[in-house]
Amino acid sequence: MLSITDVRKTFFAGTVNERVALNGVSLTVNEGDFVTVIGSNGAGKSTLLNTVSGTIIPDSGEIRVGDRTVTRLPEHRKAKWISRVFQDPMKGSSPTLTIEQNMAIAQRRGLSRGLSRGVTRARRQEFTEELKTLQLGLENRLGAKVGLLSGGQRQALSLLMATFSAPEILLLDEHTAALDPQRAQHVTEITERIVNERHLTTLMVTHNMEQALRLGNRLIMLHEGRILFELDAEQKRGATVADLLAEFRKLQAATGEPALDDATLLETARSAGPNAAAEAVAPGGAPTGGSSAAEVAPENR
Ligand SMILES: Nc1ncnc2c1ncn2[C@@H]1O[C@H](COP(=O)(O)OP(=O)(O)OP(=O)(O)O)[C@@H](O)[C@H]1O
Ligand SMILES: [Mg+2]
Repeated sequence: MLSITDVRKTFFAGTVNERVALNGVSLTVNEGDFVTVIGSNGAGKSTLLNTVSGTIIPDSGEIRVGDRTVTRLPEHRKAKWISRVFQDPMKGSSPTLTIEQNMAIAQRRGLSRGLSRGVTRARRQEFTEELKTLQLGLENRLGAKVGLLSGGQRQALSLLMATFSAPEILLLDEHTAALDPQRAQHVTEITERIVNERHLTTLMVTHNMEQALRLGNRLIMLHEGRILFELDAEQKRGATVADLLAEFRKLQAATGEPALDDATLLETARSAGPNAAAEAVAPGGAPTGGSSAAEVAPENR
């Protein structure tokens, strides 16, 4: 279980560049929950994941994993409980090492020293079985350097590696955003399968509204460092992409600033068709039927 209580983070506090990234976020993610996270550029999504992983230490508030308080622990001390996959396919694995060497390292993550660097026959067999599940043919390329793989292959491998050590929490920050639509779709399917099979407690940031609704059992929308609203499994089933886009438009109307960023629009056009994207930016355009997400989920400020 992950519990986040009133977490705050301001960058460059007290300067002209002051940026309030998290403005009191509280969220309890129960074991096996898969929470999708949406919100426009700068809403605080990555900062939220960064404070959970320990890349960023919050100014105040508390973060607990299971019964441990981990608020101020740096990333490497949390690595045995918390795993993540980044947007950049280059980040999750080492290009100069082979697939099996990368996997061996991932498997040891969080364990103390003492295991040999070599890859035993039994482990090689295990890696082969794991790689087969990706359906990318990587099981026949255990000795290939990871730098030779495509972005999609690397991202699928990163996902496998991130989930090897059965982390208590899996963090995914737009991990399909840098891939072409077909590969993004494939990595999304792999994500869904791995998370379900391993019952991983997961937070996944996405700009793809269709994905945000289809995957997982909960959804939160962040805005200006706060959780603007949350949908539970039932509300999520009842909501449509148009409902979510309407929420962005409402924000746009309220703040006078564009809430729908390019990434969201592109993803919308990709997954829901160009009409949905055009409608989303149309001034004063109304959502196509259905109740708005905010109506089914009271604000959670
Ligand atoms: N390391 C940092 N140093 C300074 N400011 C930062 C840092 N990280 C984030 N910020 C600022 O904090 C705010 C929240 O940023 P964050 O990256 O969390 O947004 P996001 O929701 O992930 O946006 P995006 O959709 O663009 O990825 C932004 O104003 C951003 O400029
Ligand atoms: Mg981000």
